[in-house]
Amino acid sequence: MKREGFICNAINPFNMGFAEYYRAFPTYTDIHSEEYRRRLEELEPLLIKYMPRRGRVLDLACGVGGFSFLLEDHGFDVVGLDVSEEMIAKAKEYARKRASKVEFIQGDAREIPFEDNTFDYVLFIDSLVHFEPLELNKVFKEVRRVLKPEGKFIIYFTDLRELLPRLKDGLVVGQEYWISKIIPDREEKTVVIEFMSEKDSFRVRFNIWGKTAVELLANLYFAQEVAEKVGNYSYFIIYRPK
Ligand SMILES: C[S@@+](CC[C@H](N)C(=O)[O-])C[C@H]1O[C@@H](n2cnc3c(N)ncnc32)[C@H](O)[C@@H]1O
Repeated sequence: MKREGFICNAINPFNMGFAEYYRAFPTYTDIHSEEYRRRLEELEPLLIKYMPRRGRVLDLACGVGGFSFLLEDHGFDVVGLDVSEEMIAKAKEYARKRASKVEFIQGDAREIPFEDNTFDYVLFIDSLVHFEPLELNKVFKEVRRVLKPEGKFIIYFTDLRELLPRLKDGLVVGQEYWISKIIPDREEKTVVIEFMSEKDSFRVRFNIWGKTAVELLANLYFAQEVAEKVGNYSYFIIYRPK
């Protein structure tokens, strides 16, 4: 089967292997897949509970846009931003098919191409692994700039520091792949995971973020309002600008 390309632009130096990763797993690239739908269903009740007022939303690192469409369906005015040309192209294709009004823009979360005080909400879902600490610092600073003073920053992530010791060689991931190697760097800031299938193998370097480190960085710019644990290793946190 020929897979469409999901090349994460070279703008981000920590994208090692992500093109193969996004090609291999529909979890982030096919909004109709069971894996993607499960993510939407898991977060929808939380988003609706904690986003009581309708308004302008920035879906930051939106990927192919599933969460943008979800919020549009709930009456929000949504912009999706992602650095990857392929992700944005696919998001626009989905938008055309759904007659969606979401505006999808290719751009960098470290330099958000919007004026100060533009958004009521900024959503940042499942994207921390792309950013090393100085980069994430830039992202958070930019999020505070584009949020309205009474706006909310909503972040959802898996605590990789907690999850990593539980990952084992041989663990099956998705329908075709298993983990064949786990290689953390000496300081455990990043981890290279090798995925293998009957047909191919590839390695991805993930930045390792734990809840404590995310909170420390976020606390420079935001005050925490809500933190909910989702499943065993993931967190849904809402911040307001300081
Ligand atoms: C795991 S996907 C998650 C996408 C989406 N939030 C979701 O939950 O389906 C992470 C996304 O981050 C994007 N990304 C990585 N670096 C970025 C950057 N510097 N600026 C904007 N997006 C970036 C990738 O292109 C990818 O689409």
